[in-house]
Amino acid sequence: MTSTLAGKIVLITGVAHGCGRVLADAFAAEGAKIVGCDVDVEGGLAIASSVKARGEEMTFVEADVADESAMHNVVTSAVRVHGRLDCAVNNAGTETTGLIADADADVFDRLSAINIKGVLNGLKHEIRAMRANGGGSIVNMSSVTSDITAVPANGVYAATKGAVNALSKAAAVEVAASNISVNSLAFAAIDIADDMFWRFLNDQHIPPDQILSAFPMGRLGRPEELVAAVRYLLSDDARYVTGTMLVLDGGYTAV
Ligand SMILES: NC(=O)c1ccc[n+]([C@@H]2O[C@H](COP(=O)([O-])OP(=O)(O)OC[C@H]3O[C@@H](n4cnc5c(N)ncnc54)[C@H](O)[C@@H]3O)[C@@H](O)[C@H]2O)c1
Repeated sequence: MTSTLAGKIVLITGVAHGCGRVLADAFAAEGAKIVGCDVDVEGGLAIASSVKARGEEMTFVEADVADESAMHNVVTSAVRVHGRLDCAVNNAGTETTGLIADADADVFDRLSAINIKGVLNGLKHEIRAMRANGGGSIVNMSSVTSDITAVPANGVYAATKGAVNALSKAAAVEVAASNISVNSLAFAAIDIADDMFWRFLNDQHIPPDQILSAFPMGRLGRPEELVAAVRYLLSDDARYVTGTMLVLDGGYTAV
């Protein structure tokens, strides 16, 4: 039988929209206690109150993941409220589009601050908290657009996600003996209205049908398939899995 996250204390960054919101909703529904953060306070409080209205547990903390003291505060809040931290999903991220020949240094710095330093800030404080309670599991959200495949006009974003894969692997070997697993999830497109993927298609004026032909399965990923992959990596089923990158892409990178 597949392990659930029932009873686990699960920290998720970027919970106000998209994948983070889907994960918070699903894990709360199976009995996890969620501590979520986001820069979007209105969106974060809205998801927390809809979870609590169902009688499930979620705390929202305002935080910019690029700010180390704010991330430290999110982890401290989780430990203060629940006594420990079991699982973390470093999900908050942002995107940009544009050719490398036109790259803007300020945009590069902003993406690096959120997508790379944000993950580093999360890892640092999550690891410290997990060490204190004997172990835990961490998933960092990466992308097939990283060091795996290249998509035109997506190079700066890809560079930040390649760094997430590298950080995940490095952290995994440093903390394996402390019973903490660290993995990255490199996914392609999950069909969540108005998430990063749909914004990319709209920005680039790419018709959805055109993109579907690149997927051997002929369809986008479903939200519940993203939930299943993250749950697996966080759960006791994946106790011996660390320092790896799970690709979730309907065969996109196998072609
Ligand atoms: N959507 C996809 O198809 C896809 C594919 C591959 C990888 N990813 C990755 O998955 C993650 C989630 O993507 P998404 O599509 O849900 O994105 P999204 O833009 O829909 O949601 C991102 C969330 O992160 C929050 N956020 C942004 N900057 C933040 C910051 N500095 N501090 C705290 N919160 C911040 C946003 O407010 C938002 O709630 C990202 O890391 C993204 O790179 C997404």
